[in-house]
Amino acid sequence: MPILGRFTRFTLWRRRAIVRAMAILKIARMGHPILMRVADPIADPQAPAIGQLIADMIDTLADASGAGLAAPQVHVPLRLVMFHVPAARASEEDGEAAEGCPFTVLINPEIEALSDDIADDMATDMATNMADGLEACLSLPGLAGIVPRHRQIRYRGLTHIGETIEREAHGFHARVVQHECDHLDGFLYPMRMRDLSTLSFTSELSRMESEEEQEESEP
Ligand code: NI
Repeated sequence: MPILGRFTRFTLWRRRAIVRAMAILKIARMGHPILMRVADPIADPQAPAIGQLIADMIDTLADASGAGLAAPQVHVPLRLVMFHVPAARASEEDGEAAEGCPFTVLINPEIEALSDDIADDMATDMATNMADGLEACLSLPGLAGIVPRHRQIRYRGLTHIGETIEREAHGFHARVVQHECDHLDGFLYPMRMRDLSTLSFTSELSRMESEEEQEESEP
């Protein structure tokens, strides 16, 4: 999932990257069968091949200025995702108090939607527990669309050293995790959209935005 309008760099990882060869992997685009299949669990998170895959995906994500990346997007059908939410981006989306999320690698992740007990029927669930937000994806370059996601989730998975991570997330942080984990089950964000008329080229969106800003600044 790319960061829209704001480009960030993982300074720490880049510094590391200087002392070893960079490997930028080719990103699969919508239509490639690797993006349509259910990915396989990783038996040994500490296997050297997994460590190499993680390093290469970090380089690839930094190069693409993304917020997250899933292994199937680099043609590897394994259950591994990585993401980060800079605090500035989180507060832009969710208000000043939002904290964001440090750079995280999750192996064999699981997501549980946290919902209010009042939501029994689907319509109520959509109204109270799902939020609409703009998403983009490195596998659909140049496009973005409005996608409903659970406002609040709990997720867990393993780190590259086999430790368990369990967190609760809401807002943009929850959105990024749902988007990345969807890649492991063959879902791209347009398959989650309720209104395909919001699917847009990002260049058109930024043109509209700058026209609106211009109109506002005119006396
Ligand atoms: Ni994506």
